Amino acid sequence: MKLFLDTGSLKDIESFVALGIVDGVTTNPTLMAKEKGDPREIIKQICRLVKGPVSAEVLSTDAAGMIREGRDLATIDEHVVVKLPFGRAGVQACRTLAAEKVRVNMTLIFSPTQALLSAKVGAAYVSPFIGRLDDIATEGMDLIEQIVDIFGNYPFQTEILVASVRHPVHVVQAARLGADVCTCPPAVVEAMFKHPLTDIGIARFLKDWENAQAKV
Ligand code: E4P
Repeated sequence: MKLFLDTGSLKDIESFVALGIVDGVTTNPTLMAKEKGDPREIIKQICRLVKGPVSAEVLSTDAAGMIREGRDLATIDEHVVVKLPFGRAGVQACRTLAAEKVRVNMTLIFSPTQALLSAKVGAAYVSPFIGRLDDIATEGMDLIEQIVDIFGNYPFQTEILVASVRHPVHVVQAARLGADVCTCPPAVVEAMFKHPLTDIGIARFLKDWENAQAKV
């Protein structure tokens, strides 16, 4: 499973890219609004760092605007993936952009039918929002399971990108279900490293070595 970072923070991206664990990045208007500077320039710099798919989202709500913005975003860097909000306009825009070989990440997916419609118009990725479903007492991972089942029946090229990830258990569940990508906030990736027994183990090895050296 590919691991994407769900952030617009160059500092966080840089630190995880250095470890070789980042396959791509997803951003959205909320995440970009937290960053200082020209959004286009930030996206360009993220692409240079990651050298993999970087989702940049349109702000238009009509198909013509999405297509115009999408074409423009795609000129920033070859790694840009245009993120479109799902809906009639998004589907129409995806069809046009995909035909022009612009990769689209269809976002705000909350049902298997939305994922299916996105795949039919050539979306490169669908982004089902797991955490936001959990937030309303609905099992988010059930949606991933359903989309994995459906996409497995047909020769769609669309990748399932698990989004709105809140904790490492989501990552484990996504991987067990065979999702193509999981996009995680930096704090979740940080948490993936942690286990108290690893820390205790390292401390004990060092202590035992020190004690043995003191006897020499
Ligand atoms: C990424 O593609 C999504 O925009 C993001 O994961 C949404 O996460 P949130 O529900 O925590 O805002």
